[in-house]
Amino acid sequence: MKTVRVHEYGGLEALRFEEVGIPEPGEGEARVRIEAIGVNFIDIYHRIGRYKGSLPLTLGQEAAGVVDAVGPHVTDVKPGDRVAYASVQGSYAEYAIVPAWRLIKIPSEVDVQPAAAVMLQGMTAHYLTHSTYPLKQGDTALVHAAGGGTGQLIVQIAKMRGARVIGTASTGEKAALAREAGTDHVILYTETDFEAEVKSLTDNTGVDVVYDSVGKDTFEKSMNCLRPRGYLVLFGQSSGPAPQIDPQILNPKGSLFLTRPTLGHYIAYRAELLGRVNDLFDWMATGKLKVRIDQTFPLAEAAEAHRHLEDRKSKGKILLIP
Ligand SMILES: NC(=O)c1ccc[n+]([C@@H]2O[C@H](COP(=O)([O-])OP(=O)(O)OC[C@H]3O[C@@H](n4cnc5c(N)ncnc54)[C@H](OP(=O)(O)O)[C@@H]3O)[C@@H](O)[C@H]2O)c1
Repeated sequence: MKTVRVHEYGGLEALRFEEVGIPEPGEGEARVRIEAIGVNFIDIYHRIGRYKGSLPLTLGQEAAGVVDAVGPHVTDVKPGDRVAYASVQGSYAEYAIVPAWRLIKIPSEVDVQPAAAVMLQGMTAHYLTHSTYPLKQGDTALVHAAGGGTGQLIVQIAKMRGARVIGTASTGEKAALAREAGTDHVILYTETDFEAEVKSLTDNTGVDVVYDSVGKDTFEKSMNCLRPRGYLVLFGQSSGPAPQIDPQILNPKGSLFLTRPTLGHYIAYRAELLGRVNDLFDWMATGKLKVRIDQTFPLAEAAEAHRHLEDRKSKGKILLIP
């Protein structure tokens, strides 16, 4: 089968499109014939070695397709089931071996590409808004990169929970996408000081929560946008790692809460995983949640997909097609 692997960490040239044998599922595992693969920032971090894995490493953490074989003692899925998954390494390939408990059956109303597209970013948007800081009616949230893949999903779910949403975006086009997703006020943070703007939009009160996936460029001002006892949810670093801080700083800034969550800890067991994905699939099937696929690339062109994401061009989900 064809796969994309990294033998040495590096730039786009580190991605090797190569042939390997089709793997066999073991105890509790299923083999998925992959039809669509989600591309995520974490794949870039694995390629460049910011996050280390054992080399050679098959990239990718997210896909959807059809179960074509199962190992012993698998009860959650059977051959022929349309399934999707995330947070399992090795999806840049024609086939993947996945622990069966991590596979979610795709309902007939949802197509395979949106299913692949929603898993990682959708479950992230779900846990951030329901578990890390559970938004409630009347809350105000600041969502950075609101026109990006995860941003558009956070905004839509935050609106379902009754929050007021202030979003940031770097271009007019992304601002329009953020608005389409439901953002109440969009700030072009490449042109306007978002801290001053948030203060003015909240009568100097500050927001209840900031969902910050940008990191280095936004972190300090994000803290300044919070009300006393507000929550800074730093969940990514698309502009680079956030600066180191002395925890004492949280005191004068308003007894703030700071967390750096990751998806794995919020889908650690099957019931929690199913709960989040079933919500997402229900909302998609009933038209409440729109998943925007920005671009698809053939698997052989994974480097182009990485370039698109790194160059800040993504306006929704990027998929690879084997
Ligand atoms: N902790 C978790 O569970 C979790 C889950 C998913 C993702 N993440 C992390 O969140 C971050 C964003 O991932 P994502 O899936 O949310 O991506 P995304 O929304 O599809 O795209 C990233 C967005 O970040 C913004 N951005 C700001 N500065 C950037 C820069 N220097 N280079 C590239 N983009 C920049 C861009 O929006 P503007 O151009 O409008 O600024 C871009 O659209 C990554 O660090 C990822 O690892 C974490």
